Amino acid sequence: MNYLVTGGAGFLGTALSNRLAKQGHNVRVLDDCSTGNPGDLLPEVTFVQGDINEKILLWKLLEDVDCVFHLAAKVSVPESCLFPSSYNLVNVSGTVTLMEAIRDTQVKRVVLASSGAIYGYQEEIPYHESAEVHPESPYAVSKLSAEHYVRTISAQCGVEAVCLRVFNAYGPGQRIPKSHPPIISNFLKHAMTNGTITIHGNGTQTRDYVYVDDVVNALVTASTAVGVDQQVINIGSGVETSVLELVRLVRQVTGKKPEEVYNPLKNGGSSRMCACIAKAKEKLNYIPLVPLETGLRLTIERDPQFRE
Ligand SMILES: NC(=O)c1ccc[n+]([C@@H]2O[C@H](COP(=O)([O-])OP(=O)(O)OC[C@H]3O[C@@H](n4cnc5c(N)ncnc54)[C@H](O)[C@@H]3O)[C@@H](O)[C@H]2O)c1
Repeated sequence: MNYLVTGGAGFLGTALSNRLAKQGHNVRVLDDCSTGNPGDLLPEVTFVQGDINEKILLWKLLEDVDCVFHLAAKVSVPESCLFPSSYNLVNVSGTVTLMEAIRDTQVKRVVLASSGAIYGYQEEIPYHESAEVHPESPYAVSKLSAEHYVRTISAQCGVEAVCLRVFNAYGPGQRIPKSHPPIISNFLKHAMTNGTITIHGNGTQTRDYVYVDDVVNALVTASTAVGVDQQVINIGSGVETSVLELVRLVRQVTGKKPEEVYNPLKNGGSSRMCACIAKAKEKLNYIPLVPLETGLRLTIERDPQFRE
């Protein structure tokens, strides 16, 4: 098949594009390299640097494409609270521009990388797709808007659409920005260098950590699965892990004894998060294959950022 992966030079996008290329598909990547780095893409992948809001470029890239994976986005919850308009421009307007361009082409399906952040506070754990959502940050609002635009415009123009609400993905290739780094790569980096692990709050807050290869499995299946048009589907591990448990596992797999520092709780996150993955199992035959401890070991083994 012919695929376009927007944001394909990012963490998930690189893993997805390389997997598709290894399976023998034709893969084009559009990425503005604001955080992504095309250096890790296989030579078989065609890389184009550009912005998701460039419609004429999108038309060219969409020629003969069967399926679009839309991953291009700004992805930091805390940063979105500081710069909501830029999150709106990329994550919402960018999605609308892409959908307008898709409308004029022969694309058959769009798969959106949406987010578990959309749910916000929920009484019931794990989170079901049918739950009422309470987005608590501009990032979460932008991903929910993107879902609505993808589903509405695709339905109007006869293109199939699937939105995967990905929970906390981690694994080799995840970048570690200085401000607001993702928790797992941040903890691993500090552990490997015998630094300090900073825990916000008392460490009882929970997340659903899902290994990159499991997310890629779900994305790839979503591009061809039958009976998923217009569906929103959670993709996580289905396991709720506290920060304290994560720290214990990080100590175990690294064999290091980093110091722990407790800081006040930051805003912008639910105290508990966990995906119900029953729908993913039913619709995508999705089974997460990599438990957290194994995923942490693989991350250290495969990512040069964590070499001693
Ligand atoms: N990683 C996670 O835990 C997670 C969880 C839920 C949802 N998601 C979603 O998955 C997608 C990929 O996330 P990721 O973790 O790989 O993040 P990432 O930052 O590594 O990837 C996003 C990519 O989009 C590119 N991009 C940003 N603005 C762009 C623009 N204007 N035009 C073109 N490209 C642009 C970036 O350069 C980057 O390569 C995002 O849509 C994100 O919202 C990720």
